Amino acid sequence: MTPPQIAEIDSTSHSAPLVAILGRVDLGVNGDMETIETPYGQVEAVMSSLGGVPILLISRHGKDRLPPHRVNYRALVAAAALAKARRLISVNTVGSMSPIPGSFFLPDDFVEFTKARPNTFFEDRATHVGMSRPYCPQIQEALGHGLEKAGAAASRGVYVCTEGPHLETPAQIRMLSQYGDVVGMTGYPEVVLAREMCLCYASLCLITNQASGLAEGPLSARDVGETTERLAPVIRQILEEAIVRLPVERRCSCHRALDDAHI
Ligand code: HPA
Repeated sequence: MTPPQIAEIDSTSHSAPLVAILGRVDLGVNGDMETIETPYGQVEAVMSSLGGVPILLISRHGKDRLPPHRVNYRALVAAAALAKARRLISVNTVGSMSPIPGSFFLPDDFVEFTKARPNTFFEDRATHVGMSRPYCPQIQEALGHGLEKAGAAASRGVYVCTEGPHLETPAQIRMLSQYGDVVGMTGYPEVVLAREMCLCYASLCLITNQASGLAEGPLSARDVGETTERLAPVIRQILEEAIVRLPVERRCSCHRALDDAHI
C-alpha cells in the first residue's frame, strides 16, 4: 500500500532504471527544468543522464532557496516517486564533530533533533516503517565504489540532523557529538519519507567544515558554500560511478518497507 495521496504509483516495483538525485550541487549536466506537481506542492527538477543512466535532478531548496527547516520534504520525495524513480541519492552538506578524515561521509544511521517538519505521508493511519537499517545497502555499496574510483577519502557513522537554520553553538556540538559523527540540517525527514514511499535512499555527505567550536575561528555559512562549489566535480564523478554500478534490479528490501508497517 502506497501513501493514500499518491496511490496511483507502484513504488514497490523491483526494476528501477531512473535514479533521482536530491541536492543543491551543480553537477554541470544539461537538461530542461520541469515542474512536477505533487499533492504536497510543486517541485522543480531536471531530467538528464549521467554515465548513460537516466537521472532526475531534484533541487532541494528550489528557486526560492528555502532554508532547511522550510524545505517541502514530502513534495520532494513524492516528486521522485511520481517521476518513477525508485532510487533516491541525496547529497547533504555536514559539519564534522569527530576527527574523521576525508571530505566525504556515508551515514549508516541517524539521530534527529528537528522540531517542526512534517515527517510522514501517513497522517491518518498508524504506519511504522522499520528503521533498523535506514539507508539502502545497495546504494551505499555503489557510493562506496564511486568514492573509491574518485579517490575520495570517506568515513561512515551516524548523522545528526538539527532544525537550523542557525549553525550550532559550541555547547550544542559538545552535546550532539555524544550522539553522532557529523551534523547537518537536511538529511531528515527525507530518509524516513523515502522509506515510507518504498524508495531506496542513501546519502552522500559532503564534509564542509569542522563543527562549531572545533576549529580555530568562527564558522560561517560562506565556508560551507565555497567547499560545496569546490568539490562539485568530485561529487559528480562519485555519483556517476555509483549510478553506473547500480543494477537495474533492486535486490534490497526497501521496496517491501510497508509490508509489516501497519499494526
Ligand atoms: N552544521 C549544520 N549543518 C551544516 C554544517 C554544520 O556545521 N555544515 C554544513 N551543513
